[in-house]
Amino acid sequence: MTIGIFDSGLGGLSVLKEIVTTLPHYDYVYLGDNARAPYGGRSAERIYEFTRQGVEFLFEKGCAVVILGCNSASADALRRLQQEWLPTTYPDRRILGVIIPAAQEVAQHYADKKIGVIGTRATVESGAYGREMEKSMGGPARIEQVACPLLVPLIEEGWEKTVPAKMIVKKYLRALKSKQISVLVLGCTHYAFVKDIIGRIMGENVVIIDPGVCAARALKIYLEKYPDIESRLEKGGACHIYSTDMSERIRHLAQRFWKAPLSIERVSIE
Ligand code: DGL
Repeated sequence: MTIGIFDSGLGGLSVLKEIVTTLPHYDYVYLGDNARAPYGGRSAERIYEFTRQGVEFLFEKGCAVVILGCNSASADALRRLQQEWLPTTYPDRRILGVIIPAAQEVAQHYADKKIGVIGTRATVESGAYGREMEKSMGGPARIEQVACPLLVPLIEEGWEKTVPAKMIVKKYLRALKSKQISVLVLGCTHYAFVKDIIGRIMGENVVIIDPGVCAARALKIYLEKYPDIESRLEKGGACHIYSTDMSERIRHLAQRFWKAPLSIERVSIE
């Protein structure tokens, strides 16, 4: 059996990269729902339904555990999938997300600090980061959230280093800077690709949290804790990438995000 990574599109390659770097020996299957991406402006109901189909595909491909690399999917689908769908359909499989590991990291090290979260509209409106941080802290958290819907298309266009893009990033971050946050959670797969730009704008006193890094660390701990799951996993170091759509643009974007050629197989999951 393998480890699955689900994302709305290709941004989740940032999460796959962190996981493969931390745990290079396992076999991985990645699914990007490029035919229906982006998820970030969609309703919770749609995100749930699309994510369920994606996870089902990964389970059918033999994944014992699936990580929702997508923040929007982790925000709007994870809890419902774990509580309502998994126990009756795949009781021996597991689904994890990226929000809980990041929330736990913040709770463990920065519970007394003012925390900023940026993400898609879906992620911010779900309130999932706040909920999970407060659960991990066992009390109220001081959280400021800003939805940054223009950042995903800017990063996908490769415009992140242009002057207008930096102005847009600065405009989104201004509200958080004025609130004097000490920690900023990059609550969207794509923001990992502009971590340096965001870090420079926020200044060296603000700690940047990348949920992909937290999820990789959490997966390692999880597999150590559950040897029954770990022992079922293939250890060949292979990555198989699936996408629900294919085009020159998708191939090119995948290569840019992965920083190496990537072979992608097209599939239908509807
Ligand atoms: N993967 C999404 C996330 O992390 C960003 C792209 C999208 O909106 O689909 O929320």
